[in-house]
Amino acid sequence: MNRYLEALQGFNLAALRRGLQEGPRALGRASRAACIAAQADADRQRTLAREQISRIPVVALDDLLGDRKCQIRLRVMKYEDGMTPYHDSLALLSILVAENPSEVLEIGTYMGHTARAMAENLDFATIHTIDLPPDFSAEQGNGDVPPKNDFHLIARRDVGREFKGQPCASRIAQHVGDTAVMDFKQIGRPTFFFIDGSHTYEYCRNDSEKCLSLCPKNGTFLWHDCYEGQPGVIKLLSEWRTQGRKVLRIEGTGLAYWKSI
Ligand SMILES: C[S@@+](CC[C@H](N)C(=O)[O-])C[C@H]1O[C@@H](n2cnc3c(N)ncnc32)[C@H](O)[C@@H]1O
Repeated sequence: MNRYLEALQGFNLAALRRGLQEGPRALGRASRAACIAAQADADRQRTLAREQISRIPVVALDDLLGDRKCQIRLRVMKYEDGMTPYHDSLALLSILVAENPSEVLEIGTYMGHTARAMAENLDFATIHTIDLPPDFSAEQGNGDVPPKNDFHLIARRDVGREFKGQPCASRIAQHVGDTAVMDFKQIGRPTFFFIDGSHTYEYCRNDSEKCLSLCPKNGTFLWHDCYEGQPGVIKLLSEWRTQGRKVLRIEGTGLAYWKSI
């Protein structure tokens, strides 16, 4: 990268302080050093995520299903940023239909593509789905503890757009709030979980542990975005494996799967 661009990207308060004390050259040097350090840190995180993901075994969908034959309803459409791609939905809906839960919990409603698909594939189930309050702005959340990510999706969402006004909407319970402070015990008794809210390690851990506490036995857990681009998800799932929970990646998808026994 061009050294001027590096200086621009690395500009921060510490560099400004150096600049004020030692002059413009020092400002440039400190900004560049900050940029190079940030790049090295991102490279380290990517390398670690690659190592961790390679240790999560991959399973084929048909091996997961065994003898079960599933008939699913799947709307195939042009991909919209943030939605679950339909080849991932195919796996998710097949497992959903095979498990046939009466209550489902999705973390991260977004436009409501998956909530609708799950409701349309289970004729009698209740689909609980959580998203941040409509007036929660992406700017407001930047700097939050625990840290969120995917602010572009938070800014763009029109929560539940895909199921509003549809016949299945009567079986979709929209919950509004930040999962970091929500009491999941108020939600119901789900046994099938699709975890797809904020993908930072802290949120993925918060959401996964709260789901597990709802259903420590015989629950089915699916996580989305189990790939190198979301190192927080990989880190949490690797930890769960070291704790004896045999999380698997589903071949050809960004999904991870685990069943509590
Ligand atoms: C990747 S999208 C979910 C896509 C959806 N599951 C689907 O398959 O169509 C992530 C969603 O999680 C929501 N979200 C992010 N952080 C959250 C939090 N802390 N609590 C609740 N929802 C959150 C975002 O607003 C966004 O709508």
